Amino acid sequence: MEFSRRTDWDLRATQWAEELEKRRASGARIIDLTASNPTRCGFRYEPSQVLSPLVSPTALLYRPDPRGSLKARQAISRYYAARGCEVDVSRLLMTASTSEAYSYLFRLLANPGDEILIAQPSYPLLDFLAQLDDVRLTPYGLLYDHGWQIDLEGLRHQLNSRRTTGQGSRIKAIALVHPNNPTGHYTRSAERAALESICREYDLALIVDEVFLDYPFSAPESSFAAGEHAVPTFVLSGVSKIAALPQMKVAWIAAFGPDRERTAALDRLEVIADTFLSTSAPVECALPGWLEGGEGLRKQIRERTQRNLAALDGVLAGSAGGGHPPVNRLHVEAGWYAVLRVPAIAGDEQIALELLTRRGVAVHPGEFFGFSEPGRLVVSLLPSEEEFLEGVRLLIEEIGRQ
Ligand SMILES: Cc1ncc(COP(=O)(O)O)c(C=O)c1O
Repeated sequence: MEFSRRTDWDLRATQWAEELEKRRASGARIIDLTASNPTRCGFRYEPSQVLSPLVSPTALLYRPDPRGSLKARQAISRYYAARGCEVDVSRLLMTASTSEAYSYLFRLLANPGDEILIAQPSYPLLDFLAQLDDVRLTPYGLLYDHGWQIDLEGLRHQLNSRRTTGQGSRIKAIALVHPNNPTGHYTRSAERAALESICREYDLALIVDEVFLDYPFSAPESSFAAGEHAVPTFVLSGVSKIAALPQMKVAWIAAFGPDRERTAALDRLEVIADTFLSTSAPVECALPGWLEGGEGLRKQIRERTQRNLAALDGVLAGSAGGGHPPVNRLHVEAGWYAVLRVPAIAGDEQIALELLTRRGVAVHPGEFFGFSEPGRLVVSLLPSEEEFLEGVRLLIEEIGRQ
């Protein structure tokens, strides 16, 4: 039997993933600096806050609304109101995950073979999503120079050169993660204005993934739900990060932009959603409770990530010994991750593999997120403080030894 070409993946594990599996199977200790599942990082979840909202008699009645129940959408509206954004329930459509929300948007905006522009480095899940929806992802650069910024010149150049070769119309949208995973870069208001002007000029939509919006390290940036929207803009979020409940599977799309296009987009999205009806009644009933009670968990996570970041900086400063430190950290504004710059004496995956085999420390190689320069490792700031500190000490020792 022949399967579809879109599922023709190379499913062989990388050497690093194989080693990780081997260590897990043998029971060897792993200091996991890739941990990104908050339910397994020792945070205090209050059963009454998380589970009680699921037990609602309303959920005994199945009366699906393809956009999500009104009560759930009103709770999402209040989530934005608390962040200074007015988002009417008519602009909201619920999905089972942010990943699914991307997929709905790819199907709404792109024909097979069309392209979506995506910042690089970025979260790698999108590659699979795009493939499954027969969409191509075309990277545009995030540049690092005393902080991250979008390569707007490069982006314009890319679109211009497409236009002159007559291929421009295949690009349908610019996607960005605000703040970005793993770089922690916030799209600043000047960058937002420039992106909107590019979208207007080239007739593109904006897709903005804000799952990490509530985890700033310094002054937070506004949601793209705020302000005027000159172009069709789809803001995505969900409880997996903002309420630290990835197991609950609920997310949404908030649509903005010129009335005619926004309404038409929502009507079509409603048909896509109606085809799957993927959010469950108990979860819709529980969403208001999770959103309203989510601050306790967010606070725990913010405190943990801030302490781990400070601990990392302390160890890095201590390792300098008056000279150049072997490892330094790139500037980060928000999120759950830190990016380390290490000497590019080998490929990132090789460095990560050595760390795992020699020290039992798991980190993500930069290649995994599409960093264009070698010598980048990504560490999660979610692990317990003791584990994190031990892991970064071993990492620095090992890199310093090489
Ligand atoms: C930037 C970003 N968007 C979306 C997701 C997936 O979210 P969900 O669990 O809602 O599909 C992740 C998961 O790590 C992520 O990092």
